[in-house]
Amino acid sequence: MLNRRNREAVVKAVAALELTGGETALDIGFGGGLGLGLLLPAAARVHGVDISATMLDRARATFREEVATGRLVLDEGSMTALPFADGSVDAIVSTNTIYFVEDLGAALAEVARVLAPGGRFVLGVGDPDLMGKSRMLTDNGFRIRPVAAIEAALGTAGLGVPKHERFTHAGLGFHLFVAAK
Ligand SMILES: C[S@@+](CC[C@H](N)C(=O)[O-])C[C@H]1O[C@@H](n2cnc3c(N)ncnc32)[C@H](O)[C@@H]1O
Repeated sequence: MLNRRNREAVVKAVAALELTGGETALDIGFGGGLGLGLLLPAAARVHGVDISATMLDRARATFREEVATGRLVLDEGSMTALPFADGSVDAIVSTNTIYFVEDLGAALAEVARVLAPGGRFVLGVGDPDLMGKSRMLTDNGFRIRPVAAIEAALGTAGLGVPKHERFTHAGLGFHLFVAAK
């Protein structure tokens, strides 16, 4: 369901990483695994981190072969404590995740820590103006942050945003922040 609903946004987010084929890429909060499937043909090695054991189990079954060969490494973990050495990942994508992250500053500092110098980070979020109007989302604890607050948090983490794309998908606005370390 996540893969179907978020397809266009995830496709655009992965494309914005502009992978060159020989790099190490990471999808944080991969959910249904659409991003992992798009990263695999475009990167030398792919990592996925998700906080949900259910999503991990599902991805391990979907990508059994890639996991067995070591091309895909899946870890249960949080954006605020990533299981990687400093500067070890070339490109990171994360879509529709920060609504569930309480301390955005800590999460982005962690992304910046594991990103290699010159690495790229693409963060995708639904339009906060529209999402903020949905009682269903706000009542269910979604953290809806204004665009300016997200850009400021990225800057504070050392992830400047040279490119900010907006588009409409599934009738909703979507933002991609293409950041570089
Ligand atoms: C709405 S889904 C988005 C899935 C996918 N990225 C997409 O856009 O379709 C959010 C995913 O983020 C994961 N998640 C939530 N909080 C997280 C955190 N702190 N660290 C890593 N993953 C998290 C959830 O388990 C879920 O799989």
